[in-house]
Amino acid sequence: MSNRTFTMIKPDATSKGYTGGILDQIVQAGFTIRAMKWTRLTAEQAGRFYAVHSERPFYGELVNFMSSGPIVAAILEKDNAVADFRQLIGATNPAQAAEGTIRKKYAASVGENAVHGSDSDENAAIEGSFFFSGLEIF
Ligand code: CMP
Repeated sequence: MSNRTFTMIKPDATSKGYTGGILDQIVQAGFTIRAMKWTRLTAEQAGRFYAVHSERPFYGELVNFMSSGPIVAAILEKDNAVADFRQLIGATNPAQAAEGTIRKKYAASVGENAVHGSDSDENAAIEGSFFFSGLEIF
């Protein structure tokens, strides 16, 4: 079934000039872009986006990092989008990511790991609507 996931290209990757390479790998893997924007989160917005992690020891570091520079937010469509995208990006920790995955190629550490991918259809819908109105999704 064709469905959707949500991604962000994170500040480490945008600042190193990896945006084009990452988007190309996503499109080459069969994902269609249904919404996309280049933007920057405030610390308050990053805190709300990652509120589910607010009790974790890395939360402050995560919020600081995610508000430290521009990101690309996008909604992507493909059969089995959530699971296939998580396979394409690889493990959260790039040291454990499979060869050829986006995080293996572009990520530096578990904190600065180049891309985000939703972990469920439900969260994909919530995260997509955090960034995009109905008028911005095609
Ligand atoms: P992401 O897929 O965006 O979802 C939550 C993020 O928290 C995750 O990617 C990592 O960037 C970050 N994260 C997870 N574990 C750690 C950790 N141990 N230290 C720092 N950041 C982490």
